[in-house]
Amino acid sequence: MTAVHIKDWPTPIEIRRGTILDAALKDGVPVPYQCRSGECGSCKCRVITGRVEHDAHLPEALSEHEKSDGWVLACRARPKTDVEIDYDGKLEFDTPPAQQRRARVQQHERLNAEIVRLVLTVEGAAMPFFAGQFARLRFGNLPPRSYSMANLPGDRHLEFFIREMPGGAVSGHVARHLSVGDPVDIEGPFGNAYLRKSNPAAIIAVAGGSGLAPMLSIAREATLNQIPCPLHLYFGVRSESDLFAPGALVQMSRQNPRMSVHVVLSEQTPGQNRFRGGFPHEAIASDFTDLSPALIYSAGPPPMVAAVAETALALGAQTDNIYSDPFTSEEAEELRPSVGVIARGLGLLGRSMRL
Ligand SMILES: Cc1cc2nc3c(=O)[nH]c(=O)nc-3n(C[C@H](O)[C@H](O)[C@H](O)COP(=O)(O)OP(=O)(O)OC[C@H]3O[C@@H](n4cnc5c(N)ncnc54)[C@H](O)[C@@H]3O)c2cc1C
Ligand code: FES
Repeated sequence: MTAVHIKDWPTPIEIRRGTILDAALKDGVPVPYQCRSGECGSCKCRVITGRVEHDAHLPEALSEHEKSDGWVLACRARPKTDVEIDYDGKLEFDTPPAQQRRARVQQHERLNAEIVRLVLTVEGAAMPFFAGQFARLRFGNLPPRSYSMANLPGDRHLEFFIREMPGGAVSGHVARHLSVGDPVDIEGPFGNAYLRKSNPAAIIAVAGGSGLAPMLSIAREATLNQIPCPLHLYFGVRSESDLFAPGALVQMSRQNPRMSVHVVLSEQTPGQNRFRGGFPHEAIASDFTDLSPALIYSAGPPPMVAAVAETALALGAQTDNIYSDPFTSEEAEELRPSVGVIARGLGLLGRSMRL
């Protein structure tokens, strides 16, 4: 076990295994990050004392020069000794601090073959969070997993869309064995892909499958606060039968005249053109020529999130204006720590990106 002392954070965090970023997020330290796979550079920090082992990363995320200057990527760095690190003033102290809470299942509803809508009621006061953030849910003795809130902040009822993964330990349990009234331990909120209070020229919110959850929360919050800019919600799924929560989308579009919903199907039935075909990043590339003044949020399968970021950057978006939550598998992360999600994702694009 090693200890990581983060400048401006009062208590050291302890790491048994895994990266500095994993441990920081588990302890609720408001550190910056995006891809969690060594490709965006958002989690860069400087090691002041101590030694870390560094997994593979893209050179664009961290140059050799920066490395020799002591900079590391927290999502790739595993401490070998106790370390002291400095985020150079980039800790996000305005996010609500993580709490540990107890909740009970209030609603459990299957929305389609894969997606379950879960509503949890938190004991006591509402758990504060920002629209777009996620929580770590623990069901009994199963390992905790990250799931994003779909509801508006400030409510004691937390809504989640959970996709049943084939062979998934936790999502399988949620889909098949969880019942109304069951207890759930919640820790959160976490994540920095939350709705900013700035006033951009446009908001592009991109969801792949269950990634609709945080994008819905963002769209609900933007609608409630009457953010005065166009809001484009792209929702990518494989086929029409994989769509869910149409009621919430229709209701919001009615409430918010500046909002448009773009459903994109990656496996369109020939002759059926009620919705657009392809992937969300392709739809965005055909809809926009300049994203430089826009804020871009995306959540869902890592290859989709990577493709959206790549497309947004190619259309002039600023790196600082792109916020992503790739729904990485913790099991896969532990087994394949050195393989980049974006590199993997781009290699797969167009062939087997699964929404
Ligand atoms: C920040 C964040 C937010 C998330 N929010 C949501 C959410 O709102 N809704 C939701 O459904 N999920 C979300 N996830 C994913 C979720 O945390 C779990 O990874 C997922 O439910 C699978 O857990 P499991 O225990 O069922 O599968 P495991 O038992 O961990 O894995 C079973 C098998 O499925 C594979 N696998 C697991 N997850 C994935 C994946 N995402 N893509 C490809 N293969 C995978 C594993 O490699 C393994 O082979 C989020 C993840 C993160 C990091
Ligand atoms: S490089 Fe670490 S979060 Fe992207």
